[in-house]
Amino acid sequence: MFELERFIEACYVAVDETTPERAAREVVAGAVDDPAAVMKALGEPERAGVNVLHRSDRLTVLNLVWGPEMNLMPHNHNMWAAIGIYTGAEVNTFWRRTEDGLQRLRGKEMGEKEAVWLGETAIHSVTNPLTRLTGALHVYGGDFFAPGRSEWDAETFEEGPYDSEKLKRLFEESNERLEELRASGTA
Ligand SMILES: [Fe+2]
Repeated sequence: MFELERFIEACYVAVDETTPERAAREVVAGAVDDPAAVMKALGEPERAGVNVLHRSDRLTVLNLVWGPEMNLMPHNHNMWAAIGIYTGAEVNTFWRRTEDGLQRLRGKEMGEKEAVWLGETAIHSVTNPLTRLTGALHVYGGDFFAPGRSEWDAETFEEGPYDSEKLKRLFEESNERLEELRASGTA
C-alpha cells in the first residue's frame, strides 16, 4: 500500500545511494505500480497543478497533475529527478545545449505504471498527450524551487530564468481549458 510518509522515507534512503537517481526511480516505480493505492492516498486528480508533498534542501516530492494536452517548455532542474505516472500519460522530450542553442534529442512517451530517471544535467519538455488529466509523482534530489534553474521559450528557444509566475499561469490556463472540455463532455 502507498503511504506518503513511508514513500518520503524511502526517497531519503535513495538520496544517499551511490546512484540516487536510479534508486529513486525504483522507489517511484514501486509506488506507481499500484495506481489505485497512490490515488487512495493522494486523491484522484481533479485539477492541473503542482502539489508539493515534501520539500527540503535534499529532496522535493511533487504530485504533478498535467492538464489536458498541456505543454511545458524545455527546462532544467540542476539535480537528478525520477518521474512515475499513476494515471494518464506524459511525453518527455529531451534536449541538449549546443553553441547554436537547444538541440532536440529523443522523446519518450510514458504511460501508467512507468517510471524514468533524469540526470542532473537533463533538459526536458513535457506534454500530456491526453484530453484528460495526467497524474505523476516527481522526485528531485534537492530543492526544486531553489533559484538558478533555466527554461527555454517554447518557440524561440531563448534561455531565461525559470519563471514561477509563468508556470502558475500555465496551470491556470490549463484548468480553464479543463473546465471547457468538461462542459462540452470531452474530459
Ligand atoms: Fe521537469
